[in-house]
Amino acid sequence: LASVEVDVASLTPGMSLIVKWRGKPVVVRNRTEQEMKDGEAVKLEDLKDPIARNANLPSDAPATDANRTTPGKEAWMVMVQVCTHLGCIPLGQEGDFGGWFCPCHGSQYDTAGRIRKGPAPENMAVPVFKFISDTKILIG
Ligand code: FES
Repeated sequence: LASVEVDVASLTPGMSLIVKWRGKPVVVRNRTEQEMKDGEAVKLEDLKDPIARNANLPSDAPATDANRTTPGKEAWMVMVQVCTHLGCIPLGQEGDFGGWFCPCHGSQYDTAGRIRKGPAPENMAVPVFKFISDTKILIG
């Protein structure tokens, strides 16, 4: 399927679901207030990969917390949950940064899915997506 429609009505803050899109797991997470604050507090100069890696934005957009999400829906992370090192599936809400932790070689991502520690070179990818209603997301 080129596109996948996801109903997120049941996701309260702190909940995630994973859908398969083009053979890859895509996580949809309704972040908590704290996760958003933690993501916003990170300075760009502290990021290993300062590029947003968000397919909805220009390829040189900076990796601010907001640029990892979509305008007006900043609580929501929609992201290909595949480690940018060698393609393992990181575990959610694990590791030093409260985001994702890759058990293969220890890469750690923050609450916006940005690489913070370990061998992975890039932030996890944000696919093309949009909210088509308050509770429905179209990925792809
Ligand atoms: Fe994730 Fe190597 S594949 S750290």
